[in-house]
Amino acid sequence: MKISRRHFVTQGAAFTAALGATQLLQPAAAQAKTLTVYSSRHYNTDNALYSSFTQQTGIKVNLLEGKDDELLERLKSEGARGPADILVTVDAGRLWRAEQMGLLANSSSSVLNQRIPGNLRHPQGKWYGFSKRARVIVYSRDRVNPSQLSTYEDLANARWKDKILVRTSTNIYNVSLIAAMIKQLGAGPTEKWCAALVKNFARSPSGNDTDQIKAVASGEGDLAICNSYYLLRLVKSKDPKDQAIARKLGMFFPNQKTWGTHVNISGAGVVNSSRNKAAAVKFLEHLSSPAAQKFFSEGNNEYPVVKGVALDPVLKRYGSFKEASLNVSIYGGNSAQAIKIADRAGWK
Ligand SMILES: [Fe+2]
Repeated sequence: MKISRRHFVTQGAAFTAALGATQLLQPAAAQAKTLTVYSSRHYNTDNALYSSFTQQTGIKVNLLEGKDDELLERLKSEGARGPADILVTVDAGRLWRAEQMGLLANSSSSVLNQRIPGNLRHPQGKWYGFSKRARVIVYSRDRVNPSQLSTYEDLANARWKDKILVRTSTNIYNVSLIAAMIKQLGAGPTEKWCAALVKNFARSPSGNDTDQIKAVASGEGDLAICNSYYLLRLVKSKDPKDQAIARKLGMFFPNQKTWGTHVNISGAGVVNSSRNKAAAVKFLEHLSSPAAQKFFSEGNNEYPVVKGVALDPVLKRYGSFKEASLNVSIYGGNSAQAIKIADRAGWK
C-alpha cells in the first residue's frame, strides 16, 4: 500500500486570514493535540485546508494518504488501537462500506446539519458530504446536438446503438448510479435499462472516466457517462492535447425535467476508534466553513455543498442544474442488487 504522511503545522496563514477570526475552536475540543486524518484525496489545496485548521486551533493534523479501498482495509486491520480520527474518501457507496465495516462513529453537529443539505449526509451523522460531483453525459459537439439528449433512461434507446462509452459496472461510480436508478425506477425497469444500454455500448468497457471522454473525442463513440470533474480537468489542462480534446466536447446534465441528475459526494466521517471525537467533529465543521468549502471543492473541480459558496469560474460556465433529491446514503444499501443487475445485463 502506498501511503504518504504529512504534517500541517505552520502553513496557511493567508487561508486563515481569509477565514476571519470568527470560527475559533471551543475549549473542550481543543484538548486534542493532534488529529490523524486518513484521506484518499491528494490535492494541493488540501494542505491549506489542514494547515488553516492548525492555525485556528493549535491542533496538528497528521495526514496519511492512501487509495480508497486500501484505507478501509487499513482501518479495519488497525481496529480499536489505530491512530485514525477522521476518514476522508469519495463516493457515498464507499462511505457506506466503511459504515458497514463498523469503522465510523455516529456524530452530531448543529453546524454540519445546518450547512450540509440533508440529502448529502448520513442520517445519523456517520459521514457528511463536503463536495459534490454530478454523473453527466459528455457528448461530441460535432456529432450530437444536445437537444437530442434528455435522460439516463434515454441512453438505452436504440438510436444510440454503438455510441455509448462507460467504464465497467463494478466501479463504485456506476454501482452508485445503478443503485440510484433502482430507487428511482424500481429493480425490474432498471434491469431492462441496463440490458438495453449494454446493447448501445461502443466497445467493451475498459479504462477510467477520462478514457471514456477521450474515446468520444477520438470518435470511438458519441456519448460518455462520467463524473463532471474529469471533463473539467481536461478543460483546465495546460497541455494543448488535452485542450484540443476538451474543445470537441460538451457536458449535459441528464433528467432535468424528471428526477434530476445523479450526484455523489466526497465525504468524511469520524472514525469509531478515535479518542478525539469532539475535536474530530470540529475538524469536519471546519471543512464546511465557506473558505474551506472553496478549497475542498476546487481541489477536484467539484461543486461545494454549502449554499452561497461561489463556484469555480470554469465550472460555472456549464451552468446550474437540478440534482436528484434522493439521500445519497441509499446507494450503499442498493449496491449488491445493482451489481447483480449489471451482471445479468452483461455490463462487464
Ligand atoms: Fe474519480
